[in-house]
Amino acid sequence: MPQVSSKSLLDIHPRELKGIVKDIPTLPVIYQELFQKMQDPNASVPQIAAIIAQDQALTAKILHLVNSAFYGFNKEIRTISRAVVILGFQSVRSAALAVSVFDYFSGEDSSQLDMTQFWQHSIACASICKILAAETRINQQEEAFVVGLLHDTGKLIEKRYFSNDFEELVQAAQEQQMTWFDTEKALFQINHATIGKAIFRAWGFPPSVVDAVQFHHAPDSATKYPQLSALAHLADYMAYPLGYPAPGSQAPTECSPAALKILGLTLEDCHLLIPKIEEDLDGAMEILKLV
Ligand SMILES: [Fe+2]
Ligand SMILES: [Fe+2]
Repeated sequence: MPQVSSKSLLDIHPRELKGIVKDIPTLPVIYQELFQKMQDPNASVPQIAAIIAQDQALTAKILHLVNSAFYGFNKEIRTISRAVVILGFQSVRSAALAVSVFDYFSGEDSSQLDMTQFWQHSIACASICKILAAETRINQQEEAFVVGLLHDTGKLIEKRYFSNDFEELVQAAQEQQMTWFDTEKALFQINHATIGKAIFRAWGFPPSVVDAVQFHHAPDSATKYPQLSALAHLADYMAYPLGYPAPGSQAPTECSPAALKILGLTLEDCHLLIPKIEEDLDGAMEILKLV
C-alpha cells in the first residue's frame, strides 16, 4: 500500500491531520450514504433497510454480527428491518460501523503487526465495554461495544499508510519495552487515538464514537462523551491480564483514576466482573470470522 502523504508521522502536527486524512481512501459510498441516513432523526426503517439491501455482502455480514452470541438475542434475526425494529437503530448502526472497518482492513497482512491478535484484543475490549456499560447502566450502551471494537483503528492507519514510521514504532516499543501510546508520545506529535478520531470523523462516524476513540488514552480530557471514553480506557486496561494484549505493546501499568471515577467503579468491582467477561469472551470471539 503506498504512502498517502510525502509527510512522515515524525513531522505531522495535530493541526495538519485533517488535511492528511483527506488523502487516505475513504469508505465505499454505500457506507457514507448509510451513516448519513442513520444520523437523520427522520430516517425510517425501510429507508435504512433499502440502503443496506443494495449490498448483499454487507447485509449478510450485519445479520451475521447481530445474530452472533455477542448480541445475545436468542431468536434468529433474518432481515435488516427486523434487526432495526428489535435491536434499534443505534445497535444496527454500530454493527454497520464495525463491518465497514473490518472490510476496509480485510486482507491486511501480519508482517509488522499480528492481525489476529489485533482483532482478538479489539473483540475482547468490545466485550468488556459491553458488560461494563450494562453494569454501570451508562447512556450510549448500544455504542459501547463498537467503541471497544474500534478504539485502536488508528494503529491500522499508521500500519497501512505510514509503513516506514510504523516499522520504527514497532521496533522502538519492543526495544524500550514501552506501551504503544508512550512510544508514539516519544517519537511523534500525533498518536493512534488522534489519527482514529480524524479518520472516523472524515468517514462520517457518529460523534460519540469519534470522541470516545480520541480520548481512550486520556479519558480525563473527554468532555462530550466521558463515559464512553472511560469504558474504552478501562476495557483496554483489563484486556491485557485477561490474555488479550494489543500486539506490539507492553501492558499499561496503570488505569486512569478518572476513568474509574467517571464510571463509578473501583478496580475491585471490575475484578468481580471477570467471570462474566470470560464467559462472554468465548462467544464474542466468533466475530473473528467476519474480519
Ligand atoms: Fe489504544
Ligand atoms: Fe487497545
